[in-house]
Amino acid sequence: MKILVSDPLSEEGIEKLKESFEVDIATGLSEDELAQKIGDYSALVIRSGTNVTKKIIDSADNLKIIGRAGVGVDNINVDAATEKGIIVVNAPEGNMISAAEHTIAMIMSLSRNIPQANMSLKSKKWERKKFMGVEVNGKILGVIGLGRIGTEVAIRAQGLEMRVVAYDPYISEERANELGVELSSVHEIMKKADFITVHTPLTKETRNIIDYEEFGLMKNGVRVINCARGGIINEAALIDSLKSGKVAGAALDVFVNEPPFDNPLLEFENVIVTPHLGASTEEAQINVAISIAEEVISVLKGGFAKNT
Ligand code: NAD
Ligand code: MLT
Repeated sequence: MKILVSDPLSEEGIEKLKESFEVDIATGLSEDELAQKIGDYSALVIRSGTNVTKKIIDSADNLKIIGRAGVGVDNINVDAATEKGIIVVNAPEGNMISAAEHTIAMIMSLSRNIPQANMSLKSKKWERKKFMGVEVNGKILGVIGLGRIGTEVAIRAQGLEMRVVAYDPYISEERANELGVELSSVHEIMKKADFITVHTPLTKETRNIIDYEEFGLMKNGVRVINCARGGIINEAALIDSLKSGKVAGAALDVFVNEPPFDNPLLEFENVIVTPHLGASTEEAQINVAISIAEEVISVLKGGFAKNT
């Protein structure tokens, strides 16, 4: 049995896979190239770069498992894989701290205009008045999606003395109480929050969960953060609210189309952006690579996977 790794994966994960199976690494393949190759492999290991389409799955006659070294499986046609009896696993815990820390870094960068001030001073300007910020202390942070990352963000935001209000239909009142988080509806959060951050998967229910209507309800001067998936916040609605001045700033790590080179959001001075860096820490990449390697090895040896 052979394993194909089609996105960059930490050396620690590759070494682990190699202890048990033959491993080929081929990154940057087109859909056709991957479809041609995949028939030789029993396992495919990916990150976010590979789109595992139906065409690829249709050609995957020996594939037993697709391992996603990360959380989101939205780049895998899970229905087609399941129909063909291919197990899809992810590594949901390895990058949650990194993604939460990135979100907090975005909140602080937004509140103090750090990226803009850095650019300004490096271009030999001394613009102290222009970059007046706001404190986060005592402000309300609205969290949409109180799962692994949303929870870690809430805990860290409370450490900054923010009050956290969250919407997550699958989280119990008891769990929210334990975290010191108030549960509320999306619309109530839009009305109350000074900062709004989304941490849901991208699904039919969450696509555009923050849309024109929701922006309409927000307080003037609200700041919005998306380190989850492009499309949870409607980008066109965000653009409108930036233009009207309702939104004082946005921090985006993810976009509907990545890389977002033609995205008008990149033109706004009060929008700060990072190229999908939420999980890009040494620690997270080692964690997810090892975790996915263990899952793949277990399944290929006839055992179970934890994170299907
Ligand atoms: P998770 O599954 O632990 O949590 C997601 C939460 O969203 C769950 O609690 C779930 O109940 C909730 N949810 C589902 N549908 C909802 C809805 N309609 N309304 C409100 N809440 C809803 O996932 P996670 O690990 O916390 O990841 C959150 C997001 O962050 C995912 O989209 C993931 O792909 C993304 N992510 C991004 C990066 C990055 O590099 N930027 C890194 C890691 C994860
Ligand atoms: C994830 O879903 O884990 C993140 O988007 C990070 C990544 O793509 O590696």
